[in-house]
Amino acid sequence: MKNKIIQDALINNYAIPQFNINNLEWIKTILSECNNLNSPVILGVSTSAAKYMCGYKNVVNMVNNIKEYLNIKIPTIIHLDHATTYEECVSAIDAGFDSVMIDASSSLLTDNIKLTNQVCNYAHKHNVLVEAEIGHISEDININCTSVEDANNFYKQTDIDLLAAAVGTAHGCYNVKPHIQYDLITKIKESTNLPLVLHGGSGLSDECLKKCIKNGINKINFNTELQLAWSKELKSYLKENKDVYDPRKIITAGCNSMQEVIRHYIKILGSFDRYYETDNN
Ligand code: 13P
Repeated sequence: MKNKIIQDALINNYAIPQFNINNLEWIKTILSECNNLNSPVILGVSTSAAKYMCGYKNVVNMVNNIKEYLNIKIPTIIHLDHATTYEECVSAIDAGFDSVMIDASSSLLTDNIKLTNQVCNYAHKHNVLVEAEIGHISEDININCTSVEDANNFYKQTDIDLLAAAVGTAHGCYNVKPHIQYDLITKIKESTNLPLVLHGGSGLSDECLKKCIKNGINKINFNTELQLAWSKELKSYLKENKDVYDPRKIITAGCNSMQEVIRHYIKILGSFDRYYETDNN
């Protein structure tokens, strides 16, 4: 399925940022900052974050209402991150998500292909994008990377729109320097020509992110880096303002640091000044 936001990144060799959201303040901060820089954005929602925000429908309504209230003009995609079941994907699609990730990467490749195709069938009928994962991206960078052969088989046997492959990154904080398989990214790109997704973007150097994009990555996910920036600033605010009890002052105290992180990544990914009219918006 062709999507203008993703196709533009694929054709012009840049990456769309996925910033994961947790609450109203994160949605406001991410949308405002991306709008300021004219960058399209993917709002990543994990299944647990969706539960925290009182369900998929509430997430869609919150995002749409905030976009209208803040007069947000950039193209946005509301994306379900790392769903492991068909039912979770269907619930998000029925609630109005624009994109879902089915992550059956812990299963056998044949089972992964079967479940992914089931999700593609339902999603594409509703004009919703599907991202799938092969090789397993976890908190451990030592896990085996995806083989080019598996990637090619997966590409030929499914109808996915974006592919997340294990190329040496991991979710969370890196305790040791990751060794990114840049050649593997190139080879998987050459054998699939799909928009490739890099999970575990937080903590990678600017040079590394740029090289991943040059070699074929078109979407990069960030969650941990926003959480670290927000919580660090919030903790220091509370230390310096012991008497504060206004919840709005407290919860927004970390948002300036998040803005800086967002600005930084948009510049590195090359997604700024890309705004164009889209019927996705
Ligand atoms: P980080 O933990 O590196 O931010 O990765 C987030 C991610 O890949 C979500 O899918």
